[in-house]
Amino acid sequence: MADVKIIQSKPRKTPNLPNYQQAYQEFSWDKAAGELVDFFPDGTLNIAYNCIDRHAEGDKKDKKALIYNGDDGTKEDYTFADMKKLTSQFANVLTGQDVKKGDRVFIFLPSIPERYVAFLGILKMGGIAGTMFAAFQEMALLDRLQDSQASVIITNADLYPRIENIKKDLPKLQKVILVERGSAELPAGEHIVSYDKEMANASAEFEPAKMSKDDYSYMLYTSGTTGKPKGVVHGHLDVLQAMVSTKYSLDIQDDDIYWCTADLGWVTGVVYGVLGIWGLGGTSVIFDGRFSPEAWYKVLQDYKVTVWYSAPTAIRMLMGAPTQPKDFDLSSLRHLASVGEPLNPEAIWWGMDAFGLPFHDTWWQTELGAISITNYPGIEIKPGSMGKPLPGVYAAVIDDGGRELPAGEEGDLALKASTVSSLMKTIWNNQEKFDSYFRGEWYISGDRGIKDKDGYFWFVGRSDDVINTAGERVGPFEVESALVTYPDVIEAGVIGKPDEIRGQIIKAFVVTQPGVKQTEELKTKIQAHVKKHLAGHAYPREIEFIDKLPKTRSGKIMRRILKSKELGQDIGDTSTLEDY
Ligand code: PRX
Repeated sequence: MADVKIIQSKPRKTPNLPNYQQAYQEFSWDKAAGELVDFFPDGTLNIAYNCIDRHAEGDKKDKKALIYNGDDGTKEDYTFADMKKLTSQFANVLTGQDVKKGDRVFIFLPSIPERYVAFLGILKMGGIAGTMFAAFQEMALLDRLQDSQASVIITNADLYPRIENIKKDLPKLQKVILVERGSAELPAGEHIVSYDKEMANASAEFEPAKMSKDDYSYMLYTSGTTGKPKGVVHGHLDVLQAMVSTKYSLDIQDDDIYWCTADLGWVTGVVYGVLGIWGLGGTSVIFDGRFSPEAWYKVLQDYKVTVWYSAPTAIRMLMGAPTQPKDFDLSSLRHLASVGEPLNPEAIWWGMDAFGLPFHDTWWQTELGAISITNYPGIEIKPGSMGKPLPGVYAAVIDDGGRELPAGEEGDLALKASTVSSLMKTIWNNQEKFDSYFRGEWYISGDRGIKDKDGYFWFVGRSDDVINTAGERVGPFEVESALVTYPDVIEAGVIGKPDEIRGQIIKAFVVTQPGVKQTEELKTKIQAHVKKHLAGHAYPREIEFIDKLPKTRSGKIMRRILKSKELGQDIGDTSTLEDY
């Protein structure tokens, strides 16, 4: 850390925006709220009004909000006026289906414009919007829909069979709204509602629901070490930190064309694909297609993207690909940022070579609701460091007693809870879990970190067993639960194994039934089983058969031991272990 080579990042595009020091010193959430957020006269607000309606009612009505590039080459543009009409219509569709404020409405769609319309339409009428990744399979869907007690799901005919298979276990589910775009014939049923038909009949006028600052807006399920995924619930005022960070950290200006590569099923897709960019009235590109260097560079080139927010695994994949940026005209790019996992210095140096620009690392989490540590444009970048706190946010490295540690010492990466305006409001149905995040005034991130003498934060690792594979957060328990539903498997322990491209891959240690032949073919079958029942991204890329799992005397799997063995490290204190 001592001899890092520093990069001077380009200054902010608009010179009258303050430099980091000034911004940090002068910042106040109240002032920012006054400047950026529109409240209704009674002090309430609505994310959808802030992201769409106010722009559609003003100078930006004909400005492109969403530029869509579909999987099949479809290209569509939606202005703020279009989005106002569509989201109002969808809000009317929902109220017509008897959806009430606070009801949970979940979206299970590929990355098509209707997904964004649905998301904002739900918020507009006061529902709580849940988003799910289209790769989720039945177990992942069931966990989320059961826990949230969602009453309505929006999906399409291609994805619907997964819902149909679990419907009997979802007693609270009332309606399934099916979007027709590109889909096979719609299934029939009392609970089935056609998106297209209802939208065609719905009024384009809708008065956005008046939501208090603490009223819930969206929820996302995320993984911890133990148990099933937890429902992280956010509020309507989240739009504030989303906007502040989009302005200060991503440096978005009025004329930018912005591409956030994250899917709406993940928090980055929600906060930086919707809240921040549209809160500021900016133009966002949505690309619904598989990752390939050619396809991605073409999006950057064809839409003349200026600000690009992506993730380390994608950057590393681009680094290693035969197709390189020099084969494209990417001269429109002016600001690059990254999130989700450690951004290795090599990736930053490659960015400098390939684009003449560094990637600006940003750090945050589903629970935090917006970027909290960042390489603010214009600050010196120390490659390998996550940067400094976003103006308004107080971050520190603390010890078990909640005391701040001196520069250079490793500890828990924590934030003063009162300084993160987009911090989650609750964990759905789980107050105990919510409370466990706090130590006095501190919110504890679960990450270990170091703050250096210049105030830069460095990521060290997780303090728990959570796996980060290709920027996606996976709980070992979910994967273990899926593995043991395979008939030949008795039990399984799952860890994150370091990987050059993906940061970590999921590795499973599996104990099979006596007499089962432990073949490569069996490994492939087990992998396919997890893909089919949990999710495409959450399957173990590596499986090792093992006779017995290390466990505590109370029967808890000691993943720490599995990991140490995998890495060839000393397995440490084993006094609490069952005979192993
Ligand atoms: O471990 C940190 C890692 O991703 C976790 C949060 O995951 P999630 O809630 O899915 O949100 C991801 C997108 C905001 C963190 O606890 N993480 C996130 N950003 C970084 C990171 N690790 C290292 N460097 C980062 N910039």
